[in-house]
Amino acid sequence: MAACRNGSPTGAERRSRASTYATRSALTRTQSKRERLEFRVGNINQLREALSGISGIDTILALESLYASDNLSRTIGELKAMLPVKGQMLFIANQHIEQPETQSHRLQPDQTDITVAIKSLGLSLQVFDLTPNKLRYLEGSIALLEQYKGDFVQEDQRDFWAGRIQYDRKMLIRVQGGLTRRFLYHAKKVEGK
Ligand SMILES: C[S@@+](CC[C@H](N)C(=O)[O-])C[C@H]1O[C@@H](n2cnc3c(N)ncnc32)[C@H](O)[C@@H]1O
Repeated sequence: MAACRNGSPTGAERRSRASTYATRSALTRTQSKRERLEFRVGNINQLREALSGISGIDTILALESLYASDNLSRTIGELKAMLPVKGQMLFIANQHIEQPETQSHRLQPDQTDITVAIKSLGLSLQVFDLTPNKLRYLEGSIALLEQYKGDFVQEDQRDFWAGRIQYDRKMLIRVQGGLTRRFLYHAKKVEGK
């Protein structure tokens, strides 16, 4: 972790604080399941270290987090190594492209970056297109943010409101313009692979 010269927190520092808060909150909410649940905070690009000593896992979920991987085949391969045969992984992720002329194939469910990585690892795969859901979510989110702007301002959360609506509007334009699609991936480890 490192702090910026002006003392404001770096992205990594903010993420670490948010993760510490989220883990603490999760621990409080799941006290009665302590023997079944464990929470750890780690870097997706150092998964072996983050997950060391963990066993007996048959299902892995990664929701909106694979984007942080700097090497999808390695990351998914490391997750695969934790699973028994017939173990499964479910990923939800957006696929972005910048140049439709040369990259539009990467928005096809059978050719996204995650699909290519999963297939290279010999896992069986089903992909579901969640783009219509994403579109509905973004339209609803923007409408709600517009409706409740006054409440955010009253609570001194104008910057949060502005950042949130800016992000959703940008994403809506991307989805409508065919630059972003969203998928659910269901991968299973098969015998002998
Ligand atoms: C879009 S959020 C999704 C969070 C959660 N999975 C959910 O569905 O609500 C992405 C999360 O990835 C975390 N993240 C970013 N870079 C990471 C990294 N290198 N290693 C692990 N997590 C990372 C962020 O802190 C953030 O909590």
